[in-house]
Amino acid sequence: MNTDFTPPNNIKYVLYPSEYRYDSLCYSGMSNLKGNSNEVFSGLRDRIATVFDIRNPSQIYLFDSASSAITALLTILKNQHNIECVYMPSYSCTELADSVISAGLTFNVYDITDDFRPELEFVRSLIGVQRAAFLIPALFGSRSIPSELMDVLHQLKMPVIFDEAQSFPMAPQYRGTTPRAFFSVISFGKSKPLSSIGGGALIVHQPEMNTMFTAYSVDELQHQESWFPYFRAVTRRQLSKYSWWRKVNGLQYRYADLAALHRAQQIRQREPRGITLLQAQMALRRLQFFLKQMERQKVHVPGLLDALESTFGKQTLRFVLSRDQQCLLPIRIPNHKRKKIGAYLAQKGVQTTFYYYPLHNIERYKERFQLHDCFNADRVFSEILLLPIHTDTPPRHIKKLERFIRQYDEYSTDA
Ligand SMILES: Cc1ncc(COP(=O)(O)O)c(C=O)c1O
Repeated sequence: MNTDFTPPNNIKYVLYPSEYRYDSLCYSGMSNLKGNSNEVFSGLRDRIATVFDIRNPSQIYLFDSASSAITALLTILKNQHNIECVYMPSYSCTELADSVISAGLTFNVYDITDDFRPELEFVRSLIGVQRAAFLIPALFGSRSIPSELMDVLHQLKMPVIFDEAQSFPMAPQYRGTTPRAFFSVISFGKSKPLSSIGGGALIVHQPEMNTMFTAYSVDELQHQESWFPYFRAVTRRQLSKYSWWRKVNGLQYRYADLAALHRAQQIRQREPRGITLLQAQMALRRLQFFLKQMERQKVHVPGLLDALESTFGKQTLRFVLSRDQQCLLPIRIPNHKRKKIGAYLAQKGVQTTFYYYPLHNIERYKERFQLHDCFNADRVFSEILLLPIHTDTPPRHIKKLERFIRQYDEYSTDA
């Protein structure tokens, strides 16, 4: 399977434009670091509570990332509910796998359908299983759970974790309070819909369980805030726009393909940390921006989808959700064509990417746990290509991308 990267020499259409655009916001956030932190934290909790339809915002715990939130949650479930293992899709990010390991648990992988969901029959087979947790991410946008699957999730004896890292602030998979051990986690990190400077939260849907988490209230977790790491990160991101900087620092595309990148990576042990004031301030600002921007983009995306369908066929849109449910645009391209299309777009300055390398193929996890094959996860991974349509993408870039796609046939005939 080909996993070659196709980086543009000169990036004009970036995957995550906020990397370069949020710096002024960040500076103004820094100048406000002495603000009333309780007001900011409670403002953010209130906003999250509205999305999740949680009446008591004290059921929401703010962390420095979704990974921190998951690690904290699993550590408590392990200590107080004797959880030993987590069921998670093989097609998911290594941050999730590393969070499970950081909490001292093992994981089992499950395969996914083309809707990035577990097979109904597989979940049903887990109904009697205890001492485990079930993790279900909403990948590439806001994905509602079919009612049949939700019924089965309600019958599980184990806690269920809805991972909304890639959907928040769009509609989550589960809303409201319940007597079931249901939890949600969200992220404000780069590459997520809000694409901010990190941060995340844990939402406890079962009010009675809330007392287990009080050790993770903001006051307990808050760590010393320094502006310097943000200043350094923002400056680096600004400079990484220029190819000379990337070359000098070997910053991006150090590996020719995703398989090589994964071979070089290691398991990352993490300690859960609380959100910082600046992260919370930025998340609040990005929330305001998000809704406005999605509205602006709505008009322009149908033209791009039409271009994709007429150039590459209807199946190309198999992974696509409606615009107000999705960030980035995952299209389906057979593996033998993906590199050529990526290289064509790179020539035009368009940055594309693909993930996730399925966990059952990654040596460092295979060595630790018995992970069975997940053939559909392999196929989805081999076929996905992510186009740079993000919260911050200006409409003129969407139109440009549409034009490039319409010109693809000419290019491929010439080539
Ligand atoms: C589905 C999913 N869950 C959780 C995470 C972890 O989020 P964070 O970067 O905030 O730790 C990611 C990160 O890529 C993700 O894609």
